[in-house]
Amino acid sequence: MEIFYEIKPLRAFLNGKRKNPSSIGLVPTMGALHQGHIELIKASRGQNDLTVCSIYVNPTQFNNAFDLEKYPRTLDSDKEKLEKAGCDVIFAPSNEEMYQGTSQIRFDVGEIGSFWEGEFRPGHFNGVAQVVCKLFNIVQPHRAYFGQKDFQQYKVIEKLVDELQFDIQLTSVPIFREPSGLAMSSRNQRLNESEKEKATVFYQSLLVASELLKKGEQIIAVKDKVRQMCEAKPNVKLEYIEWVDTKNLKPVQNVLAGSVLLIAGYVGEVRLIDNLLLE
Ligand code: PAJ
Repeated sequence: MEIFYEIKPLRAFLNGKRKNPSSIGLVPTMGALHQGHIELIKASRGQNDLTVCSIYVNPTQFNNAFDLEKYPRTLDSDKEKLEKAGCDVIFAPSNEEMYQGTSQIRFDVGEIGSFWEGEFRPGHFNGVAQVVCKLFNIVQPHRAYFGQKDFQQYKVIEKLVDELQFDIQLTSVPIFREPSGLAMSSRNQRLNESEKEKATVFYQSLLVASELLKKGEQIIAVKDKVRQMCEAKPNVKLEYIEWVDTKNLKPVQNVLAGSVLLIAGYVGEVRLIDNLLLE
Protein backbone atom coordinates (compact mmCIF):
# COMPACT_ATOMS: atom_id res chain seq x y z
CA MET A 1 0.00 0.00 0.00
CA GLU A 2 1.29 3.43 -0.95
CA ILE A 3 0.63 6.56 1.09
CA PHE A 4 0.81 10.07 -0.33
CA TYR A 5 0.55 13.35 1.56
CA GLU A 6 1.02 15.54 -1.52
CA ILE A 7 -0.89 15.94 -4.76
CA LYS A 8 2.00 15.98 -7.23
CA PRO A 9 3.53 12.59 -6.42
CA LEU A 10 0.05 11.05 -6.14
CA ARG A 11 -0.82 12.31 -9.62
CA ALA A 12 2.47 11.02 -11.04
CA PHE A 13 1.87 7.61 -9.46
CA LEU A 14 -1.73 7.37 -10.72
CA ASN A 15 -0.79 8.56 -14.21
CA GLY A 16 1.75 5.74 -14.40
CA LYS A 17 -0.97 3.24 -13.44
CA ARG A 18 -3.54 4.75 -15.81
CA LYS A 19 -1.40 3.84 -18.82
CA ASN A 20 -1.71 0.11 -18.10
CA PRO A 21 -4.74 0.62 -18.48
CA SER A 22 -6.31 0.07 -15.10
CA SER A 23 -9.50 1.31 -13.53
CA ILE A 24 -9.29 3.48 -10.45
CA GLY A 25 -11.87 3.55 -7.64
CA LEU A 26 -11.96 6.41 -5.13
CA VAL A 27 -13.32 6.20 -1.58
CA PRO A 28 -13.35 9.68 0.01
CA THR A 29 -13.33 9.65 3.83
CA MET A 30 -12.50 11.83 6.80
CA GLY A 31 -10.72 8.95 8.55
CA ALA A 32 -11.47 7.45 11.97
CA LEU A 33 -12.36 4.47 9.87
CA HIS A 34 -14.92 1.84 10.84
CA GLN A 35 -16.48 -1.15 9.10
CA GLY A 36 -18.88 1.12 7.17
CA HIS A 37 -15.89 2.72 5.43
CA ILE A 38 -14.33 -0.70 4.85
CA GLU A 39 -17.49 -1.82 3.03
CA LEU A 40 -16.87 1.05 0.58
CA ILE A 41 -13.27 -0.15 0.10
CA LYS A 42 -14.56 -3.68 -0.55
CA ALA A 43 -17.05 -2.38 -3.12
CA SER A 44 -14.28 -0.49 -4.90
CA ARG A 45 -11.89 -3.43 -4.83
CA GLY A 46 -14.59 -5.60 -6.41
CA GLN A 47 -14.88 -3.29 -9.42
CA ASN A 48 -11.49 -1.65 -9.93
CA ASP A 49 -7.83 -2.57 -10.39
CA LEU A 50 -6.72 0.11 -7.98
CA THR A 51 -8.46 1.62 -4.96
CA VAL A 52 -7.56 5.02 -3.56
CA CYS A 53 -8.86 6.03 -0.13
CA SER A 54 -8.59 9.68 0.81
CA ILE A 55 -8.40 10.61 4.48
CA TYR A 56 -8.96 14.28 5.03
CA VAL A 57 -10.96 16.10 7.69
CA ASN A 58 -12.23 18.87 5.48
CA PRO A 59 -12.58 22.09 7.51
CA THR A 60 -14.83 23.85 4.96
CA GLN A 61 -17.71 21.43 5.52
CA PHE A 62 -17.88 21.94 9.29
CA ASN A 63 -20.36 24.61 10.28
CA ASN A 64 -19.44 24.05 13.92
CA ALA A 65 -15.86 24.75 15.08
CA PHE A 66 -16.26 22.54 18.15
CA ASP A 67 -17.32 19.57 15.97
CA LEU A 68 -14.24 20.09 13.76
CA GLU A 69 -11.93 20.28 16.76
CA LYS A 70 -13.42 17.14 18.33
CA TYR A 71 -13.52 15.13 15.10
CA PRO A 72 -11.51 11.93 15.79
CA ARG A 73 -8.16 11.65 14.00
CA THR A 74 -6.64 8.16 14.01
CA LEU A 75 -4.32 7.96 11.00
CA ASP A 76 -2.14 5.11 12.32
CA SER A 77 -5.01 2.73 12.97
CA ASP A 78 -6.70 3.88 9.73
CA LYS A 79 -3.57 2.83 7.81
CA GLU A 80 -3.65 -0.61 9.44
CA LYS A 81 -7.33 -1.09 8.62
CA LEU A 82 -6.84 -0.06 5.00
CA GLU A 83 -3.79 -2.28 4.58
CA LYS A 84 -5.83 -5.23 5.93
CA ALA A 85 -8.75 -4.36 3.63
CA GLY A 86 -6.45 -4.46 0.59
CA CYS A 87 -6.60 -0.75 -0.24
CA ASP A 88 -3.83 0.22 -2.69
CA VAL A 89 -3.31 3.92 -2.08
CA ILE A 90 -3.99 6.35 0.77
CA PHE A 91 -4.11 10.07 0.09
CA ALA A 92 -3.86 12.01 3.36
CA PRO A 93 -3.16 15.67 2.55
CA SER A 94 -2.69 18.57 4.96
CA ASN A 95 -4.97 21.62 4.91
CA GLU A 96 -2.20 23.61 3.24
CA GLU A 97 -1.85 20.99 0.49
CA MET A 98 -5.61 20.84 -0.17
CA TYR A 99 -6.51 24.52 0.00
CA GLN A 100 -3.24 26.45 -0.30
CA GLY A 101 -4.77 29.05 1.97
CA THR A 102 -7.85 29.73 -0.15
CA SER A 103 -11.34 28.34 -0.71
CA GLN A 104 -13.16 31.20 -2.38
CA ILE A 105 -15.06 29.24 -5.02
CA ARG A 106 -18.45 28.43 -3.55
CA PHE A 107 -20.99 25.83 -4.53
CA ASP A 108 -24.73 26.20 -4.42
CA VAL A 109 -26.03 22.87 -5.64
CA GLY A 110 -29.60 24.14 -5.81
CA GLU A 111 -32.71 22.79 -4.15
CA ILE A 112 -31.35 19.32 -3.34
CA GLY A 113 -28.83 20.86 -0.92
CA SER A 114 -31.11 23.52 0.50
CA PHE A 115 -33.23 21.60 3.00
CA TRP A 116 -32.62 19.08 5.85
CA GLU A 117 -28.84 18.90 6.36
CA GLY A 118 -28.47 22.00 4.19
CA GLU A 119 -30.79 23.88 6.52
CA PHE A 120 -29.45 22.60 9.84
CA ARG A 121 -25.77 22.78 8.79
CA PRO A 122 -25.48 26.00 6.76
CA GLY A 123 -22.51 25.88 4.39
CA HIS A 124 -21.99 22.14 4.90
CA PHE A 125 -22.74 21.08 1.33
CA ASN A 126 -20.65 23.91 -0.08
CA GLY A 127 -17.69 22.40 1.80
CA VAL A 128 -18.53 18.85 0.72
CA ALA A 129 -18.78 19.97 -2.91
CA GLN A 130 -15.49 21.88 -2.69
CA VAL A 131 -13.53 18.94 -1.36
CA VAL A 132 -15.20 16.26 -3.50
CA CYS A 133 -14.57 18.30 -6.67
CA LYS A 134 -10.94 18.68 -5.65
CA LEU A 135 -10.61 14.96 -4.96
CA PHE A 136 -12.28 14.06 -8.27
CA ASN A 137 -9.91 16.41 -10.06
CA ILE A 138 -6.79 15.18 -8.25
CA VAL A 139 -7.50 11.42 -8.48
CA GLN A 140 -9.61 11.36 -11.66
CA PRO A 141 -11.16 8.04 -10.72
CA HIS A 142 -13.34 5.94 -12.99
CA ARG A 143 -15.66 5.16 -10.09
CA ALA A 144 -16.32 6.72 -6.68
CA TYR A 145 -18.01 5.17 -3.64
CA PHE A 146 -20.15 6.86 -1.03
CA GLY A 147 -22.40 5.59 1.76
CA GLN A 148 -26.18 5.60 1.85
CA LYS A 149 -25.68 6.68 5.48
CA ASP A 150 -25.25 10.26 4.22
CA PHE A 151 -28.26 10.09 1.94
CA GLN A 152 -28.49 13.77 1.07
CA GLN A 153 -24.72 14.04 0.58
CA TYR A 154 -24.97 11.32 -2.06
CA LYS A 155 -27.71 13.25 -3.88
CA VAL A 156 -25.59 16.41 -3.77
CA ILE A 157 -22.61 14.58 -5.25
CA GLU A 158 -24.83 13.01 -7.90
CA LYS A 159 -25.89 16.54 -8.86
CA LEU A 160 -22.25 17.69 -9.06
CA VAL A 161 -21.33 14.76 -11.29
CA ASP A 162 -24.35 15.31 -13.57
CA GLU A 163 -24.16 19.05 -13.87
CA LEU A 164 -20.37 19.42 -14.03
CA GLN A 165 -20.19 16.36 -16.30
CA PHE A 166 -17.57 14.41 -14.38
CA ASP A 167 -16.90 11.14 -16.19
CA ILE A 168 -17.18 9.20 -12.94
CA GLN A 169 -19.56 6.39 -12.07
CA LEU A 170 -21.01 6.77 -8.57
CA THR A 171 -22.01 3.93 -6.28
CA SER A 172 -24.06 4.18 -3.09
CA VAL A 173 -23.17 1.49 -0.52
CA PRO A 174 -25.80 0.36 2.06
CA ILE A 175 -25.57 1.49 5.68
CA PHE A 176 -23.42 -0.73 7.87
CA ARG A 177 -24.77 -0.98 11.42
CA GLU A 178 -23.63 -2.12 14.86
CA PRO A 179 -25.45 -5.25 16.13
CA SER A 180 -27.56 -2.78 18.20
CA GLY A 181 -28.80 -1.16 14.98
CA LEU A 182 -26.77 2.02 15.51
CA ALA A 183 -25.44 3.20 12.15
CA MET A 184 -21.64 3.16 12.25
CA SER A 185 -20.16 6.64 12.28
CA SER A 186 -16.78 8.13 13.16
CA ARG A 187 -18.63 10.40 15.58
CA ASN A 188 -19.75 7.32 17.58
CA GLN A 189 -16.17 7.28 18.94
CA ARG A 190 -17.14 10.35 20.94
CA LEU A 191 -19.97 8.47 22.71
CA ASN A 192 -19.52 6.46 25.91
CA GLU A 193 -21.29 3.08 26.31
CA SER A 194 -24.43 4.55 27.83
CA GLU A 195 -24.65 7.23 25.13
CA LYS A 196 -24.18 4.57 22.43
CA GLU A 197 -27.13 2.71 23.91
CA LYS A 198 -29.22 5.91 23.85
CA ALA A 199 -28.17 6.60 20.26
CA THR A 200 -29.91 3.41 19.11
CA VAL A 201 -33.17 5.36 19.57
CA PHE A 202 -32.65 6.97 16.15
CA TYR A 203 -32.69 3.66 14.28
CA GLN A 204 -35.54 2.39 16.49
CA SER A 205 -37.44 5.57 15.63
CA LEU A 206 -36.95 4.89 11.93
CA LEU A 207 -38.30 1.34 12.34
CA VAL A 208 -41.32 2.48 14.36
CA ALA A 209 -42.03 5.34 11.94
CA SER A 210 -41.82 2.99 8.98
CA GLU A 211 -44.30 0.54 10.56
CA LEU A 212 -46.75 3.34 11.43
CA LEU A 213 -46.57 4.83 7.93
CA LYS A 214 -47.14 1.41 6.39
CA LYS A 215 -50.28 1.12 8.55
CA GLY A 216 -51.50 4.41 7.11
CA GLU A 217 -50.71 6.69 10.06
CA GLN A 218 -50.39 10.38 9.17
CA ILE A 219 -46.82 11.72 9.09
CA ILE A 220 -47.65 14.45 11.60
CA ALA A 221 -48.72 11.86 14.19
CA VAL A 222 -45.63 9.77 13.41
CA LYS A 223 -43.37 12.76 14.00
CA ASP A 224 -45.02 13.32 17.42
CA LYS A 225 -44.51 9.70 18.36
CA VAL A 226 -40.83 9.77 17.34
CA ARG A 227 -40.21 13.00 19.22
CA GLN A 228 -41.67 11.41 22.36
CA MET A 229 -39.53 8.28 21.88
CA CYS A 230 -36.36 10.34 21.54
CA GLU A 231 -37.12 12.79 24.30
CA ALA A 232 -37.87 9.94 26.72
CA LYS A 233 -34.09 9.36 26.71
CA PRO A 234 -32.09 11.83 28.79
CA ASN A 235 -29.65 13.92 26.71
CA VAL A 236 -31.21 12.91 23.40
CA LYS A 237 -32.55 15.68 21.18
CA LEU A 238 -34.37 15.05 17.93
CA GLU A 239 -33.54 17.63 15.28
CA TYR A 240 -35.78 16.31 12.51
CA ILE A 241 -37.46 13.24 11.12
CA GLU A 242 -38.73 13.66 7.57
CA TRP A 243 -40.39 11.35 5.08
CA VAL A 244 -39.14 12.32 1.63
CA ASP A 245 -38.98 11.31 -2.00
CA THR A 246 -35.62 9.63 -2.78
CA LYS A 247 -35.35 11.55 -6.07
CA ASN A 248 -35.79 15.15 -4.97
CA LEU A 249 -35.82 14.85 -1.14
CA LYS A 250 -39.11 16.72 -0.96
CA PRO A 251 -41.65 15.61 1.69
CA VAL A 252 -44.12 12.91 0.66
CA GLN A 253 -47.55 12.49 2.18
CA ASN A 254 -48.70 8.98 1.43
CA VAL A 255 -46.67 7.10 -1.19
CA LEU A 256 -44.25 4.55 0.27
CA ALA A 257 -42.54 3.48 -2.97
CA GLY A 258 -39.35 5.41 -3.69
CA SER A 259 -39.32 7.18 -0.35
CA VAL A 260 -36.86 7.41 2.53
CA LEU A 261 -37.07 8.44 6.17
CA LEU A 262 -34.33 10.84 7.23
CA ILE A 263 -33.50 11.45 10.88
CA ALA A 264 -31.01 13.73 12.65
CA GLY A 265 -30.43 14.48 16.29
CA TYR A 266 -28.05 14.83 19.17
CA VAL A 267 -26.87 12.54 21.92
CA GLY A 268 -25.23 14.95 24.33
CA GLU A 269 -23.15 17.20 22.10
CA VAL A 270 -22.66 14.65 19.30
CA ARG A 271 -24.81 15.08 16.21
CA LEU A 272 -25.88 11.89 14.43
CA ILE A 273 -27.87 11.13 11.27
CA ASP A 274 -29.50 7.98 9.93
CA ASN A 275 -32.07 6.96 7.33
CA LEU A 276 -34.25 4.10 6.16
CA LEU A 277 -35.42 3.37 2.63
CA LEU A 278 -39.10 2.40 2.48
CA GLU A 279 -40.63 -0.09 0.08
P1 PAJ B 1 -17.04 10.26 6.29
O1 PAJ B 1 -18.06 10.64 7.29
O2 PAJ B 1 -15.69 9.78 6.75
O3 PAJ B 1 -17.66 9.13 5.40
C1 PAJ B 1 -16.98 8.65 4.28
C2 PAJ B 1 -17.93 7.78 3.49
O4 PAJ B 1 -18.31 6.64 4.28
C3 PAJ B 1 -19.22 8.53 3.14
O5 PAJ B 1 -19.58 8.28 1.80
C4 PAJ B 1 -20.22 7.96 4.12
O6 PAJ B 1 -21.55 7.98 3.65
C5 PAJ B 1 -19.72 6.53 4.25
N1 PAJ B 1 -20.19 5.93 5.51
C6 PAJ B 1 -20.10 6.46 6.75
N2 PAJ B 1 -20.69 5.64 7.65
C7 PAJ B 1 -21.17 4.58 6.96
C8 PAJ B 1 -21.89 3.40 7.33
N3 PAJ B 1 -22.25 3.14 8.58
N4 PAJ B 1 -22.21 2.53 6.35
C9 PAJ B 1 -21.86 2.78 5.05
N5 PAJ B 1 -21.19 3.87 4.65
C10 PAJ B 1 -20.84 4.76 5.59
O7 PAJ B 1 -18.82 11.65 4.33
C11 PAJ B 1 -17.70 12.11 4.53
O8 PAJ B 1 -16.75 11.48 5.29
C12 PAJ B 1 -17.25 13.44 3.92
O9 PAJ B 1 -18.34 14.30 3.81
C13 PAJ B 1 -16.55 13.27 2.55
C14 PAJ B 1 -17.47 12.69 1.50
C15 PAJ B 1 -15.28 12.40 2.70
C16 PAJ B 1 -16.09 14.68 2.07
O10 PAJ B 1 -15.25 15.29 2.99
